[in-house]
Amino acid sequence: MIEFTYKLKFLRGTLKFVSQELKEKYPDIEIIEENEFETVFRSEEESVEKFRNLYSPTHIEDSHGRVINLSRREWRKGFVPAGINPSLAYILCMVAKLKKEDILLDPFCGSSVIPITALKYFNIKRVICSDISSKAISASKENFKVVGIEESRYKLFRSDIKNIKISKRNIDKIVSNLPYGIRVGDHSGNVEVYKSLELLAKKLLRKKGLLVLLTQEKKLIREVFRREEWNVKSLARVNEGGLFPEIFVIRKK
Ligand SMILES: C[S@@+](CC[C@H](N)C(=O)[O-])C[C@H]1O[C@@H](n2cnc3c(N)ncnc32)[C@H](O)[C@@H]1O
Repeated sequence: MIEFTYKLKFLRGTLKFVSQELKEKYPDIEIIEENEFETVFRSEEESVEKFRNLYSPTHIEDSHGRVINLSRREWRKGFVPAGINPSLAYILCMVAKLKKEDILLDPFCGSSVIPITALKYFNIKRVICSDISSKAISASKENFKVVGIEESRYKLFRSDIKNIKISKRNIDKIVSNLPYGIRVGDHSGNVEVYKSLELLAKKLLRKKGLLVLLTQEKKLIREVFRREEWNVKSLARVNEGGLFPEIFVIRKK
């Protein structure tokens, strides 16, 4: 039997999620070496092209040095500053354990990388996306158009989180890349914004709903989602272009 060697690259801090996806999709591979940012494995698959269905790593390289960028998404034409790496968006969706019947809310949607990832690769029922910036809404519109998702499966509108006008308690998951106050906004502005997120979660999340949040405002998250009411867990610390946000999973107690 002939085997081929491949090298997977990923964001530091995301190894466990990348391993999970790799083992689920390719249970027969043999891992040769693994560290914080690379996994080398052997497989019977002859072509590196086969691995394009891995979405959590950032790159894959074959033994001839041919590299495929696994973070690239053909539907991502609209961009915003501080947009999330699509591989990390995929990981947030994995962490949220999305199901077919889920309704997801991203109230800081930017160009809607997270909601589109949830619809396209996890086939969830519906997403609600909002953002304060009109540029973000235009970028989102463009991406939704290119990806070709039916309009009945998403709702997209411009709103400050402080006055989002939705009231139905039917959200299963809030998955979002929050403003960190570094590239966008500042810390004092974030306090009100994060408080509004907590109030919104209280109002809209179903009983067994949860939040998966990416942020560098680690102290603020724990202050706002008080331990008397919420269970807050940090799952990973990720190196995303020199910043070190954490992935938080938050559930109602
Ligand atoms: C880190 S970015 C999210 C980027 C997005 N995940 C993406 O990949 O395109 C944070 C977003 O929060 C939005 N934002 C900041 N303050 C807000 C507020 N008060 N209400 C709603 N959105 C806000 C910004 O416009 C920005 O698009």
